[in-house]
Amino acid sequence: MNAASAPGKVILLGEHAVVYGESAIAVALDLRTRVTVAPRTDGGGGTLVNGQPLNVAYHVHVVHALDVVPPGGPVLVETESRVPSAAGLGSSAALTTATVGALLAMTAGWKDEETLARAAYEVEWRAQGGRGSPTDTSVAAHGRGVLVDASPHERHLWTVERGTRRWHLHDLELPPLRIVVGNTLDRGRTADQVARVAKFVARTGFAREVIADIGRATRAGLAALRASDMLALGSAMDRAHNSLTTLGVSTPRLDLYCEAARRAGAFGAKLTGSGGGGSMIALAADAAPVVAALRKVGCREPLIVALGGPGARREPAEGPGRTESLGQPEASR
Ligand code: PMV
Repeated sequence: MNAASAPGKVILLGEHAVVYGESAIAVALDLRTRVTVAPRTDGGGGTLVNGQPLNVAYHVHVVHALDVVPPGGPVLVETESRVPSAAGLGSSAALTTATVGALLAMTAGWKDEETLARAAYEVEWRAQGGRGSPTDTSVAAHGRGVLVDASPHERHLWTVERGTRRWHLHDLELPPLRIVVGNTLDRGRTADQVARVAKFVARTGFAREVIADIGRATRAGLAALRASDMLALGSAMDRAHNSLTTLGVSTPRLDLYCEAARRAGAFGAKLTGSGGGGSMIALAADAAPVVAALRKVGCREPLIVALGGPGARREPAEGPGRTESLGQPEASR
């Protein structure tokens, strides 16, 4: 039996603008997904996922993972995740990366995090019908922080190209950081939000200026991170959220949660990921009042999560510490 785990992520700054060549900062969460794979030895024919026959509609990431890293016969796949799904927190990349990791471990193909990141991105690319950036799978493989930039520089990890797009991914060291995540439980589709911004950009020069302003906020946030200046990082987040609202990808609920977090003393708050629903994040010295304020405005399960945790790793197949290694959001303990 082989097991691997990988973390979820948040985009701290730069979503949408990164599509137009600006930088983005994505960071690993201390919430993980764990996958085990084992050859099926009971004489049964097909692969089982959590005891169910493999189904293309339900297990699309596993189906593509089995194509990209063929195990050579039917397998038993077990998944376990603390990353909330459909919340813009990288749950599908965490699942994909952990599945690919477990399959690479089983087939003696586990080499390094770049091999894993590339194979996991190939799976995500196929599962999403030829869309999506390698950001989530790169963070899931590498952990810590990942800076996506228009050109490679120091701390370069790898470069990924698809069609006309090219992403240069870099390691980013982070100070110890905890954030509050508020999941709106509304579903936004990344492809719809990216298309909405593309239309706006095609129509007006103003949208381009807003994109450039998100780029400036990301650079200010990067400097603030390097200086461990939480106040400056918070104001970069506020600025980015305002620009994302102007681009039309926020929602009244995301705005309400961000405003509630700020009023409760957060340094800053913003939507994370593609928007149109999903989650917001808030940076605060004291998370408890922010959690209380989010609950008050209707957020069901605000989470306090640590940022910058480890990337994908092989796990002992069984034994103590298994569940703990997946992380436990403090606010739901
Ligand atoms: O919703 P997420 O976490 O997959 O983030 C998408 C990030 C975008 O910048 C909106 C799109 C992209 O391809 O970079």
